[in-house]
Amino acid sequence: MSRIHYLPDEKAIEVRPDETLLSASLHSGIQHTHVCGGQGRCSTCRVAVVDGLERCNPPNSVEAAMATRLGFDSDIRLACQTTVSGDVVVRRLLLDDLDLSLVVPTAMCPTATSAGQERRLAVLFSDIRGFTSFSEALPPYDVIHVLRRYFGTMKQIVNASSGVVNNTMGDGLMALFGLTRPESASIDAVEAGLKMLDAMTAMQPYLQTAYGRKLEIGVGIHVGEVVIGTIASDSGQEVTAIGDTVNFASRIESANKQAGTRLLISHGLLAEVSRQIQVGRCVRVPISGKSGEYELHEVTGLNPPATANRE
Ligand code: FES
Repeated sequence: MSRIHYLPDEKAIEVRPDETLLSASLHSGIQHTHVCGGQGRCSTCRVAVVDGLERCNPPNSVEAAMATRLGFDSDIRLACQTTVSGDVVVRRLLLDDLDLSLVVPTAMCPTATSAGQERRLAVLFSDIRGFTSFSEALPPYDVIHVLRRYFGTMKQIVNASSGVVNNTMGDGLMALFGLTRPESASIDAVEAGLKMLDAMTAMQPYLQTAYGRKLEIGVGIHVGEVVIGTIASDSGQEVTAIGDTVNFASRIESANKQAGTRLLISHGLLAEVSRQIQVGRCVRVPISGKSGEYELHEVTGLNPPATANRE
């Protein structure tokens, strides 16, 4: 057994050679923040090794990647990835009571906590085309009225396809699929996207009659790993999702403008639903923030149930 002396707690605890610093501190009742649940996917468990750095294991590839990404000095270690072969003195770095209050219990160990969870989800973004000129031409109360009607309709569609509207931003919407039916996340999202286009078409006579104007939407969908967590809001806890999958889905939605399409999906998502959907054009477009061009696919409809091999 080796000993860890924690600062600023001024508490010394024992640690087995195969036990991480995080595990040892949690089992000893030290309030050690660890938002990703000890997976090396965040930086909140980090400690500064004040003495005994040479008695710590070398950073593994997961920790090294995080250290490079965040520019850690060599004495900064992720407690969930660090084991020791002798006595060390470390200083916990995220100590704020608010940090600790933002995490929720998990099964990692009796005292473990985590604020996030990795899930494979389909992420849908939509945006109203020409909304700025529309909103500039109308009284603000009318703009709010149209948005309420629009979002109300779209949320019903998303919910009916087992999705959740995660966020609305101006005239944009983000929805998550797979939280309740992970096995059909991709096709649920595509179905919702197609129904949203239909709903927008159905809304045109109303917009023409009431305002003499037309509105269209663009929809982009991608599927992949995201980190989901809950964020407190006035109406309770809201699920939010973060990660490259989310960013990519947003950029796919934007690519509709350049491609002249209404519903685009990623190549990865197509591979999952190709037998169930009808595909139009394949476009190769640059994606902002990424290098090279990406192959995206226009969705024009669903295959009839008789030919769709839905599992
Ligand atoms: S708890 Fe997230 S990296 Fe250690």
